[in-house]
Amino acid sequence: MQTLHVSLGERSYPIHIGSGLLSRPELLAASLKGRQVLVVSNSTVAPLYMDRLLSLLPDRLVAQCILPDGEQYKDLAHLDAVFTELLRNRFNRDCTLIALGGGVVGDMTGFAAAAYQRGVDFIQIPTTLLAQVDSSVGGKTGVNHPLGKNMIGAFKQPNAVLIDTDVLGTLPDRELRAGLAEVIKYGLIRDLPFLEWLEARMDDLLARKPEALAEAIRRSCENKAAVVAADELEVADLRALLNLGHTFGHAIETGMGYGEWLHGEAVATGMLMAADLSMRMGWLDTADVARVRRILVQAELPVAPPAISVDEFLGHMAVDKKVKDGQLRLVLLRGLGNAVVSPAPDGLLRETLAIGARLGLTA
Ligand code: NAD
Ligand code: GLY
Repeated sequence: MQTLHVSLGERSYPIHIGSGLLSRPELLAASLKGRQVLVVSNSTVAPLYMDRLLSLLPDRLVAQCILPDGEQYKDLAHLDAVFTELLRNRFNRDCTLIALGGGVVGDMTGFAAAAYQRGVDFIQIPTTLLAQVDSSVGGKTGVNHPLGKNMIGAFKQPNAVLIDTDVLGTLPDRELRAGLAEVIKYGLIRDLPFLEWLEARMDDLLARKPEALAEAIRRSCENKAAVVAADELEVADLRALLNLGHTFGHAIETGMGYGEWLHGEAVATGMLMAADLSMRMGWLDTADVARVRRILVQAELPVAPPAISVDEFLGHMAVDKKVKDGQLRLVLLRGLGNAVVSPAPDGLLRETLAIGARLGLTA
């Protein structure tokens, strides 16, 4: 097992990464204060891993909340089920919520923990690659609104993150690939040596070689923890860099209807669109864009956006948390491994969107 730390003063917490962590009660016990525990999971993950998790909690008063599975249920209506379960069981302020699932369960559980009685503890046990490398770390929590992705939420750091790499054994291939998009993101925004490592080891990752996956998770979590420690609340345009491809990607997710494109797939295509726009702004050359495309194709991720019109794209992109004073700002690349937040000239943005909408990006 390896343990990383997210350094945030009194809100600091460990990220444990390794095989077999769901057989180690002491890791969980170290982060549980009270007796009352609500495990939130979904209808796919609970049958696979709930019993194992419950076996780690013999001396606690445990309730469960099983949500329906899907991004389309990541909304206020379904969040209410978590509050109902907490209240039905008369859980008080020293209860702990445990998220057992992917990013959807993690984001919803964290938001419920932020809001229940104005804040209770929570622990992340992420079960998708995407959640293990990104969403379980850093404390962004929330739900979608039909008019905007992740638009309602709170910052709420977990008390611990337990990453058992064994659970990836049951993850469908498409979900594994979606997680790789967020892994590749770290290489593109701030870690060129990691990008090179990914280019060399992508076949091993797709083949689920445990040593390669563990290394990718560790290096991703190191990057994420460093960025979160430097700019927890996304006020310094540092944490925003983690959103490479997300403004385009969120427009794809919202435009296509939640759940149609996986989040990681939309981010993958969005990262190539961001690279294309960076090239139009003179910040990348065509070989760089081709390299971005190549690693995404290597990871078997989509690189052609769906046929959403330019105006529809722009409409969805306007609902973005990086908009300042009405101006859209995007995460762009000033060279590979060096992301910046910047506005983009409207004409160039439209060119990227138009090429995407007509042809798919062919750089
Ligand atoms: P997800 O939670 O929908 O999980 C994907 C699918 O895999 C689901 O069907 C789930 O039931 C299933 N699954 C999960 N673990 C499994 C396992 N071990 N075996 C078999 N099936 C399993 O999707 P995701 O990709 O994990 O997360 C996407 C969500 O995360 C989006 O809502 C996105 O907005 C959010 N996100 C949040 C952050 C953040 O910082 N908070 C960062 C990135 C993404
Ligand atoms: N996934 C983006 C962030 O955590 O800031």
